[in-house]
Amino acid sequence: MTKISLVYSRVIWKSAGIEESHARVKLTMFKGLILGILLCLVVMFAGVYFYFAGGHAPVAVTDPMMPMEKKFAHMALNARIEKDTAKLQSPIPIDEQNLLAGADTYKDHCAVCHGIPGREKTGIAAGMFPSPPQLFKGTGVTDDPASETYWKAKNGIRLTGMPGFKDHLSDTQLWQVSLLLANADKIPDSVKQSLAAAPAEH
Ligand code: HEC
Repeated sequence: MTKISLVYSRVIWKSAGIEESHARVKLTMFKGLILGILLCLVVMFAGVYFYFAGGHAPVAVTDPMMPMEKKFAHMALNARIEKDTAKLQSPIPIDEQNLLAGADTYKDHCAVCHGIPGREKTGIAAGMFPSPPQLFKGTGVTDDPASETYWKAKNGIRLTGMPGFKDHLSDTQLWQVSLLLANADKIPDSVKQSLAAAPAEH
């Protein structure tokens, strides 16, 4: 071996050694990072667990909302409904007959929580959390497409008290009541009278 090639091979050896130690430092950093993430997760889970197990979570109807509870719940719900109802359209027309049938369904299954036009909230509605919106007050759900109301009536809204009527009402009944609510601000007198004839606490 010549002198030059000896020196050269030493340089290669040295740089290989440096690279190796670099790789080792990188590996240690990576391990540290993973450990840090795992530790964070454990602490977070423990925090959430003790929050719920320790009786700190708001479970009474009168408790205040959890931070951002409404925002997150609505974000999840809206995203799901948008996904499910993108191409959904009512298979029945908005006519008096369907609106009257919708009013019957409403009186029997919805009014106790969502109210009758011009009446006070029922005791049941007043004692719920979240509070059931009074669908004939203000805009109600007239600003939502009927398909959104149909989805909510069919599937319900978890952990809110809003029942899903999928197995209890026919598809036609679900659309009839949804059309009624989507047009609650422009219903004919016959439908108004039908709603007004609902028994008390309904
Ligand atoms: C036992 C009470 C109860 C009954 C009965 C009930 N709901 Fe509800 N409903 C609720 C509650 C509570 C909410 C609010 C949920 C929330 O805050 O996300 C709700 C929400 C809704 C919404 C969404 C309103 C909005 O502003 O987006 C619609 C639409 C709806 N209900 C339709 C119906 C229809 C149609 C029926 C009858 C077929 C019905 N509900 C029966 C309790 C009820």
